Amino acid sequence: MTNEELARRLDTSDEWIRTRTGISRRHVVNPGVSTSELAVRAGQRALRSSGRPDADALVLATTTPDRPCPATAPEVASRLGLTGIAAFDVAAVCTGFVYALAAGTGLISSGIARRVLVIGADAFTTILDPQDRTTTAIFGDGAGAVVLRAGAPQEPGAIGPFDLGSDGDLADLVAVAAGGSRQRSSKGPTAEADHYFRMDGKAVFRQAVLRMAESSQRVLEQSGWRIEDVDRFVAHQANARILASVAARLELDERRLVRNIDRVGNTAAGSVPLALADAVADGFIRPGHRVLLSAFGGGLTWGSTVLQWPDCAPVY
Ligand code: UT7
Repeated sequence: MTNEELARRLDTSDEWIRTRTGISRRHVVNPGVSTSELAVRAGQRALRSSGRPDADALVLATTTPDRPCPATAPEVASRLGLTGIAAFDVAAVCTGFVYALAAGTGLISSGIARRVLVIGADAFTTILDPQDRTTTAIFGDGAGAVVLRAGAPQEPGAIGPFDLGSDGDLADLVAVAAGGSRQRSSKGPTAEADHYFRMDGKAVFRQAVLRMAESSQRVLEQSGWRIEDVDRFVAHQANARILASVAARLELDERRLVRNIDRVGNTAAGSVPLALADAVADGFIRPGHRVLLSAFGGGLTWGSTVLQWPDCAPVY
């Protein structure tokens, strides 16, 4: 959906959206399509890219599970022909994929699994208020996935260390009020608007810049990298101005920033793997590049990690 299409039904403009967010278009699922559909397609392609159809665990990062109960991951696993494997959801909004990567890495390093399919998928437009011009301008639907496998710490593709964090005191900055146990156990009726996603854009903007920059700095310290060592920075594609501000804080050359927000918008848990896949497909990330990943989201949550890009290409 282009900015012009949005402007036909809401009080907004292509000019406002492009200058305030850097977004020109985003993808919107058709009616009836849910997160599992996106997750299955991304999962199939990641498995194909890995050269093998199997995995012994699946971690799905999502803010928009198909249903509040059960988790969406087991159904995705079955639809991928992986019935029987460990499968669970991770809920950390836009940080979800980095948290899921950490969970997958932990499963492998503890010996519980040897191959883990990690998917970030969100049909985020399904929770937006169609009349809210701010959120509809930013968010889009999307998914991406990777396969992690056991290997040696010195191998290209070895992932980590991780920096993960949260601040629940600021949980209300990004929220869907209804649909959970708090609303269900209260006696009053739920207003329709409570089922929609709400965000304090300005406060979230400030937090996103601060938290992604701080988390990136911490993970660089842990890994012994300096900022000049980072060849490519894949940050959560929340807003082009946020990306530029994080790069400025880190004193990172902006030419090393991965950007695909103009064509997909903010795809929440899908954002980091989509940006990674697009950058590899475009030849912007190449084997041997030292890559920093960082994300920020509701909760609040944040997380970062590093890896040296291995010799592997995405399948679309
Ligand atoms: O993924 C992690 C979670 N989300 C984020 O990281 C998003 C973080 N926040 C942002 O990206 C920005 O704060 C927004 C893009 C959401 C908003 O941009 P802003 O520059 O902070 O704008 P604002 O909220 O200060 O609004 C400025 C004006 C307001 O009008 P008034 O009150 O000055 O008359 C808004 O009503 O822009 C108006 N506005 C719009 N105008 C046209 C807000 N949305 C729109 C719109 N089209 N779509």
